[in-house]
Amino acid sequence: MADGPAMQDVTFTPDADNARAFRDALGRFATGITVVTCAGADGPAGFTANSFAAVSLDPPLVLWSPAKSSSRFVVFAGARHYSIHVLDEAHAGWLNRFSRTGEGFHGLSHEITPEGIPAIHGALARFDCEQHATHDGGDHLIVVGRVLRASYRTGTPLVFSQGAYGAFTPYTPG
Ligand SMILES: Cc1cc2nc3c(=O)[nH]c(=O)nc-3n(C[C@H](O)[C@H](O)[C@H](O)COP(=O)(O)O)c2cc1C
Repeated sequence: MADGPAMQDVTFTPDADNARAFRDALGRFATGITVVTCAGADGPAGFTANSFAAVSLDPPLVLWSPAKSSSRFVVFAGARHYSIHVLDEAHAGWLNRFSRTGEGFHGLSHEITPEGIPAIHGALARFDCEQHATHDGGDHLIVVGRVLRASYRTGTPLVFSQGAYGAFTPYTPG
């Protein structure tokens, strides 16, 4: 099938005048979506994040990046232990729970891990981490975690690209 009309390539320097274009360019990279959780001073805390990435198999390391401007930055940047939950297509409702005005853990089935992390039941995959290192990442902090425990199940990951959410559909050649 022929592609539709190609959009003119947009080339720019990612400065303050082109912040929207820079976000749009970054949004061409599809990611999964995670919810990162840790024990906060006022109870369980969660943070919706698509900056998750695998780093190392041996030792087992992963990363995510909280914005320094986040109201929850201090809690998450300082957490010794945290869990990263990979969302599946049925978890779209979790996204708003863990944004600024969301209802958080209220009514959500969860357990407390031996490290004291509030871990939500039903994630497509879960990585229970101990903070390994942090690195400056401009207006974000790169938080590298050593995975202490991991789990996964079958399911369809929730995918995020260009500001939209969807379910992953495998490509079948031919
Ligand atoms: C799909 C999605 C992915 C996000 N990924 C990140 C992320 O990786 N890092 C980050 O700092 N904020 C991310 N956010 C924004 C935060 O979840 C949160 O909404 C934002 O920090 C504002 O709330 P706060 O100031 O109360 O933290 C993401 C939001 C959505 C909806």
